[in-house]
Amino acid sequence: MRKRLIAGNWKMHLTPPEAAAYAEQLLRHIPDLDHQDVAVCPAFPALGAVSSVLSGTHIGLGAQNLFWKEQGAYTGQVSPSMIVSCGCRYVILGHSETRGRFGKTDSEDDLAYFAESDATINRKIKAALPHGLTPILCVGETLSERESVKTDEVIANQLEGALAGIDGEELYGLVVAYEPVWAIGTGQACEPDEAERICGQIRAKLADMLGTECAESCRTLYGGSVNGANAGSYLKLPSVDGALVGGASLKSEEFARIAIS
Ligand code: PGA
Repeated sequence: MRKRLIAGNWKMHLTPPEAAAYAEQLLRHIPDLDHQDVAVCPAFPALGAVSSVLSGTHIGLGAQNLFWKEQGAYTGQVSPSMIVSCGCRYVILGHSETRGRFGKTDSEDDLAYFAESDATINRKIKAALPHGLTPILCVGETLSERESVKTDEVIANQLEGALAGIDGEELYGLVVAYEPVWAIGTGQACEPDEAERICGQIRAKLADMLGTECAESCRTLYGGSVNGANAGSYLKLPSVDGALVGGASLKSEEFARIAIS
């Protein structure tokens, strides 16, 4: 039986003192339940402060990214050892906000930013695993890919690219989050039936690529406009093993409501 995982992605919010105070609030609001893991993923500068609050508690810690090199002349990057030494157990990889294929631009000056590809995500996963980090690999289609009925193909390709050359034995316990890009931060969550279908399909693809035993050990989450009111409709689904929560993870009572859904 897979344990459910509720993970909060704090994105670029909260300074270290704010994040530490918020982590204290979460400890008060979120009960330690046998059937689930809860984790939060603060921005890099806040990892140490949040770790000193959460270390040894029932709330785990994750980072929002890493770079695959251990050290060197890589200005602005953070290595797997660095996040592990801050107390991280999880790392979000391949989030649509860091993938480059959407041609995201800064609306103010039309400047393209971030350029993550399946190949760089693959390197990051390979770098994370030897450190005992559990990747939370994000996959999902854009609105135009959905409209042109490419959702299933896009997700299969993302899984193949991100996990290329990695054995099933190394990927036990992997977390894959289905996050349709059009549902992130928009308030337009994916229909639960569709989240169930895609999560089932992700597991079938993992079984194909990595073997059934490994696929059964992997958790498939839904993410995209999850909130206190709709979380229950995802968390009761047989193929959905939890949620990756952005905006609603920044409100302690709402995040707690999701965690006890
Ligand atoms: P959201 O973000 O819950 O604010 O839609 C989810 C995510 O980006 O992981």
